[in-house]
Amino acid sequence: MYYPEEIIQEVRDRNDIVDVISQHVQLKKQGSNYFGLCPFHNEKSPSFSVSPSKKMFHCFGCHAGGNVITFVRMYENYTFQEAMKVLADRAGIKLPEVEMTEEMKKKAAKKQCLYDINKTAATYFYYRLRNQGGELGLNYFKSRGLTEETMHKFGLGYALQYSDDLVKYLKSKDYDDELIREAGLGVFGEKEGMRDRFINRVMFPISDANNKVIAFGGRVMGDAKPKYLNSQETPVFEKRNNLYGLNFARSSRSDNFILCEGYMDVIAMHQAGFNQAVASLGTAFTPEQAMILKRFSRDILLAYDSDGAGVGAALKAIRILRDCGMNGRVISLKPYKDPDEFIKAEGREAFEERINNAGNGFMFEIKVLRDSFNFNDPAQKTEFQREIASKLLDFEEELERDNYLHAVCEEYRISEDGLKKLLFAMATKRGLKRERVEVSTEFIEPVSKSGDDDPDGYAQRLLLTWLTEEPEKYKKIKDRISVEDFIDPLYRKVAESILEQLESGKTDPAAIMDLFDEIEEQQRVSEIFHTKLSALDTEAEKEKAFYEIVVRVKEESLNKSRSEAGGAEDIKKMVEKKKVLENLRRAGRL
Ligand code: GTP
Ligand code: MN
Repeated sequence: MYYPEEIIQEVRDRNDIVDVISQHVQLKKQGSNYFGLCPFHNEKSPSFSVSPSKKMFHCFGCHAGGNVITFVRMYENYTFQEAMKVLADRAGIKLPEVEMTEEMKKKAAKKQCLYDINKTAATYFYYRLRNQGGELGLNYFKSRGLTEETMHKFGLGYALQYSDDLVKYLKSKDYDDELIREAGLGVFGEKEGMRDRFINRVMFPISDANNKVIAFGGRVMGDAKPKYLNSQETPVFEKRNNLYGLNFARSSRSDNFILCEGYMDVIAMHQAGFNQAVASLGTAFTPEQAMILKRFSRDILLAYDSDGAGVGAALKAIRILRDCGMNGRVISLKPYKDPDEFIKAEGREAFEERINNAGNGFMFEIKVLRDSFNFNDPAQKTEFQREIASKLLDFEEELERDNYLHAVCEEYRISEDGLKKLLFAMATKRGLKRERVEVSTEFIEPVSKSGDDDPDGYAQRLLLTWLTEEPEKYKKIKDRISVEDFIDPLYRKVAESILEQLESGKTDPAAIMDLFDEIEEQQRVSEIFHTKLSALDTEAEKEKAFYEIVVRVKEESLNKSRSEAGGAEDIKKMVEKKKVLENLRRAGRL
């Protein structure tokens, strides 16, 4: 943390979370909270809530959540410091400068310079396209069917044939050689000195999710090689962390994304009204990109080239998506090569139909696999089935595995029993992946009477939520529950702060949030404060539920100590826990 706690607190307190979020999300009051459509994933009915009392937001759909600083970090894709700066400015708070190290200041300044120079260059290329000397570029784009509106939306431009047109301009604006080189806009030649990197190419500025230009792709207008020249990576341009078109696609109100291979594909898609199209940046699709998309939607439609290379790339992307817990579906573009050609030939509605018929990613993998075998040879048929079985083993969930097994057997006329046996034989050798247990946090589940395992820490989470919502409950449990009863390290850290706050008589969950640097951790913390307590009508029902939660937390804690007890100290603690639990059980209430 680079700022003292008091400053962070002040920034949080003086930026009303409802005000800040309202600037981006339309919120409606419902009871003591506000609700709206979540900006972090696509949805049609509001599951995004903002609580003025907790000073936190939380989405019950995609589980995004946090305090006002988290919101700005996530929404604007800012670092903690950047978010602090924006919010401090907004509230007229002056941040202390001293806390940034020289190193950090230098880094931040460098990034800002790169954003500046890229923006200047983009404006210049844009201007060139529309002025003398730009006809070649303009005609090229027109020949590819782009409208003026589309060219404007994507900020398309043109780099002249001269070898130092841009460099001269940038220098006239006081950018130095070193920055020009670092931004990837110029190269240094022994004889010529600094000259343009992009020459005689149509230019595609690449923006990050916040519409800041971070790099360029330049395409030749003929058949010369390389077809595309892309900026090299810089501190503001990390290929694996950005997607072309995301700045637009993130706010499209579609419930899926269309993932394409090329810049031109994305542009053609948008021009046809598919604003949810994005592409990776001249490299293969990455897990980082998958995780970015996941924040908005889990339904990813692949519109990759229909040639061999495209199929290979699609297979890789499907696997990455699956590893990230998402579903890839494949759009068939046949007989056309890519989305751009498809749209030109068949138009919007035909593509819409292809979307509706997009095939399941797993079934696509099997189909590609099928085509690599010759079924006239029984040995190859067996091999095919082995490969299927091996792939099925990757599914963690039995139900899902069975559904796919069924579908594959149906499609390829394979005996379901036979494949199951094969699967079983393989599983005993290789072992299934661990089954993942998803515990619903939507409604309070009947708290188990036995000491069942609760891998998700559901009861611990409920208890913490409850304590922040009804702090007066604390006195009833203060002698019975301690920090040590919270097993998960993150829950324990949160519990430590909450219990401390309760002890001092004032609760502020939003402050606890800032004990955690990583957005991912903050999401889990937010979950803790938003585990839903379903409509328990009467006070008596609530009392009972609360009692059961406390018992359950204590049980789990005891079970945990049992499995770990080693030294005399451990055993003493265990005995104490056991005593508290027995008393609780005997009393039947708090
Ligand atoms: P058009 O051929 O103009 O329709 O462009 P496209 O976007 O459809 O390109 P293509 O399908 O050939 O390639 C997909 C993506 O791969 C491009 O958008 C680029 O990001 C990248 N790419 C293609 N060719 C090159 C190249 O020669 N060099 C580099 N670095 N990247 C390339
Ligand atoms: Mn193309």
